[in-house]
Amino acid sequence: MAVPTNGNGRYDWAKEVKEFDETKAGVKGLVDAGVTKLPRLFVHPRDKLESHPQIKSKDGVKIELPTIDFEGVKDGGARRRELVEEIRIAAKEWGFFRIVNHGIPLHTMDAMLDAVRRFHDQPTEEKMPLYSADSRKKVRFNSNNGPLRENESASWRDILTCVFQDDHLDPGDIPLACRREVHEYVKCMIELREVMAELLSEALGLNNDCLSRMECMKSEALACLYYPNCPEPEKTLGTPKHSDMTFLTLLMQDNIGGLQILHDDKWADVPPVRGALIANIGDLMQIISNDKFTSVEHRVVAQAVGPRISVACFFMPSQRAAAKPFGPIKELVSDENPGIYR
Ligand code: OGA
Ligand code: NI
Repeated sequence: MAVPTNGNGRYDWAKEVKEFDETKAGVKGLVDAGVTKLPRLFVHPRDKLESHPQIKSKDGVKIELPTIDFEGVKDGGARRRELVEEIRIAAKEWGFFRIVNHGIPLHTMDAMLDAVRRFHDQPTEEKMPLYSADSRKKVRFNSNNGPLRENESASWRDILTCVFQDDHLDPGDIPLACRREVHEYVKCMIELREVMAELLSEALGLNNDCLSRMECMKSEALACLYYPNCPEPEKTLGTPKHSDMTFLTLLMQDNIGGLQILHDDKWADVPPVRGALIANIGDLMQIISNDKFTSVEHRVVAQAVGPRISVACFFMPSQRAAAKPFGPIKELVSDENPGIYR
């Protein structure tokens, strides 16, 4: 068996995973216990921690992420066409963009961030019954979304996940500490999803109800993320490099920062903007759009300050739609533009 050596020497990976999981206290439990040194399980390999080969740290480069102003989105006419064009370019060239004037009240966003913090700040005993890596559970609490792969480093964050299958989750299943706010926030996410589905359909040159009829974004998994302050942030990551296995993700982050996207082969910072949301194209959208839209890799660095709170709303297919495989939309495939995916 391969033994991980990650700069902290060799160690028994499986044993450390087991011990950590058995606490059911998450990463916050480690911080509460007063750790001053990063447990080996959380140490990431050096090359995963660099911004790019010339920058031997996690510092991201500066970019101007596209910002899309949804003011007047329902008015139609010239502004609507302009907006669709902006989205088309952002979804193709960047895969990530900011949305402002999206209609979700600031107090709803703030209340949601507060509620997520309230959930995670509860004593461990309150959260323990929800601790699980079983992705079939609609409501679950853990640090790594699903089991780690063998010898994979763990991430410096805790997650409460609430899955709304076909837009629905029994309110009674949502933890009381954040029940009202999660319910309200998802309602807003679903409304915005409708708008996004139309705009993205139009940006693909399709009828505005095309994506909605496919039901490819009719379920939500809400990841309520809590990134505790970290004693040795330069050795670990909050969320390692990945792209989202979704159609679309809408992300809200608090004012701390730490999100980076891989742009032109460099890690680039996506600093928080108060009241703004971040939209990113997921892998499944890239597939059905036959690469007209791009799913971009991103990560969250660990920091000495915290906790950082963020809420990712992952849009996924309805139960009915998920039963069939997805491939490029027929209208987007031709002899000149053959299907890239099956
Ligand atoms: C994710 C993610 C970013 C963040 O959960 O997929 O990319 O800012 N989160 O927490
Ligand atoms: Ni992500």
